[in-house]
This record gives sequence, C-alpha cells and structure tokens, in this order.
Amino acid sequence: MKRDLISMLDVKDDLEEIIDLGIDLKKKSKNGKNIELLKDKTLGMIFEKSSTRTRVSFETGMTKLGGHAIFLGKNDIQLGRGETIEDTAIVLSRYVDLIMFRAMKNEDVKELAKHATIPVISGLDDKEHPCQVVTDLMTIKEYKGDLKGLNFVYLGDGKNNMSHSYLLGCGIAGMNVKIVSPKKYWPDEYYVDEAKKFGVDVEITDKVEDSTKNADVIATDTWVSMGDETQKQQRLKDFKDYTVDDKLMGLAKPDAIFLHCLPAYYDYEVTKEVAHGPQSVIFDEAENRMWAQIAIMVTICKK
Ligand code: CP
Ligand code: NVA
Repeated sequence: MKRDLISMLDVKDDLEEIIDLGIDLKKKSKNGKNIELLKDKTLGMIFEKSSTRTRVSFETGMTKLGGHAIFLGKNDIQLGRGETIEDTAIVLSRYVDLIMFRAMKNEDVKELAKHATIPVISGLDDKEHPCQVVTDLMTIKEYKGDLKGLNFVYLGDGKNNMSHSYLLGCGIAGMNVKIVSPKKYWPDEYYVDEAKKFGVDVEITDKVEDSTKNADVIATDTWVSMGDETQKQQRLKDFKDYTVDDKLMGLAKPDAIFLHCLPAYYDYEVTKEVAHGPQSVIFDEAENRMWAQIAIMVTICKK
C-alpha cells in the first residue's frame, strides 16, 4: 500500500516520529554524515501556483537524500493543455518514485493520489498546507522541547490552508489552539470538529484584544492567499485590526516565539519589527521546510 500526505490527518499516528526524524537528520547532515536514504529515487514536483520555499526545499532535500527532483510547472506539461489528472498520475507513476503537487484545489490533489500508484505529497492546496505545519511543529519542538500542553494562537485568515492545517496539527500534537479571525473568515467546521476530537482546547474568536495572553506560540499568514487576489481590497479592510505587532507579542509569555510560513507582507499581517525581532523564528522555520520534508519523504517511501 502506498502512502500519501494530503491532510495533517494522514500523519496523525506518527507525527512526532516524523518530527524527531527531521531533527535527527538535520543534525546528522550538518555534522557531515551521509543521509542518502533515497538514493536514485526521483521526485516529480507539479506546481499550479508560485513558490520559493516549497520548490527549493523539496529539490534540495531530494538531492541531500541522494535522489533527484524534476520541476513540472503546470503550463510546461500537458496538464495545462487539458490532459486529465488521471492520465497525468498514471504516466508519472511509470517514471518517478513520488510526486509533490501544489494545487489550486484539494480535490485535484486527491484525484492525483487516487490514480497514482506512487506516494503523493501535497505542497499546499486551498484547504491545507500539511508540509508547512509538520515543519512548524518541528520548529516549535526545537525551541520548546515538548509540544504537549503548549498554547498556540493564530491570527488572520481563519479559513485558509494554514489555519486548517494548524487546527489539525495542534490537535494531533496535544497543543491548545486558538484561531483569531473576523467571523466571515472562521475555519470550515470540519477542521474545528476534527481538532476537538484530540481533546485539546480549541477556541475560535474574533476578539483580537488580549487574544495572545499566555501564548507560547503566535503565528499568522498572509491575508490574501494565492487564488484570493480578486478579494484583496475587501480583505485588507476586513483584517485591518489583526496585525501581529509588539503589543500583541508583549501579552504572550516572555519566551513566546513567532512563526510565519512566508511570504510575509509587512504592516499587514505582521510588522517587520515582530517578524525580524528577537522572538521570531521565521527563518529557522523556512530552513526546516527542507528537513521536515526530508523526514516526510523518507517515511512515506518506506514500504
Ligand atoms: N511557505 C511556503 O509554502 O512558501 P512558498 O510559497 O514560497 O513555497
Ligand atoms: N496561505 C498562503 C500560504 C502561502 C505559503 C497561500 O495559500 O497563499
């Protein structure tokens, strides 16, 4: 049976093992040890949207594992001219060993996984961004030592891929999770209900004031995700009170850390003072995309 990673729920049974493997392989590689665990394997990377981190971290990660990655921009392959996802999946399965897909729609990633005979990893879609949230939890573990019982607060677009994957990821990791967002942008109920099943405190609120009190981790994301560009002006108005600034950081625990998956838009979702300030770990987080995905690929390719 092949294994896919499309939702955080796909790693609910071994999330901490994957995180620990990422931390271990990061140390080994930095100490000059060989981590070529996927020697001669090939990763196909289909992109329907732009990317800096996902593209470079997957490709470099695969090289470190002794394998190889191929960039497949949607408009460079026949998928962009109407070849079906089904045929694309079947054909790519004959050439490569695993596929990463950054897609417009979650259903399209599921469709690709359904017809591929090799593992499919989501590199983000409209519903979730699982590789990013595995990475973020790995980064939190590096800084905090343990995940269980931490208070995680996310401010901004509660209905986007990061918010949904944070809800599930925090639940799985045993962290309390609060989503602070205007009512119009509250998460899909499905993700809230699934998060609650893990027995953690789940709070969805539109009240910004005091929202970060007692937080161990504060996170945000762009107010205008890829695909939401036509709503940009409305969104900038709707989210204007949700900027993570020094005042909100000051209410959190003194050793709280700040996360952002990047790209960041300064003075919208976060001030540059916070994002580049002493509590921010955003660039470790960006680097960890590579180490977390190395662990994900190794785990998923195990028979
Ligand atoms: N965080 C993230 O997924 O970044 P990219 O869009 O640059 O890949
Ligand atoms: N929510 C953002 C994440 C970017 C990495 C988007 O979908 O554009």
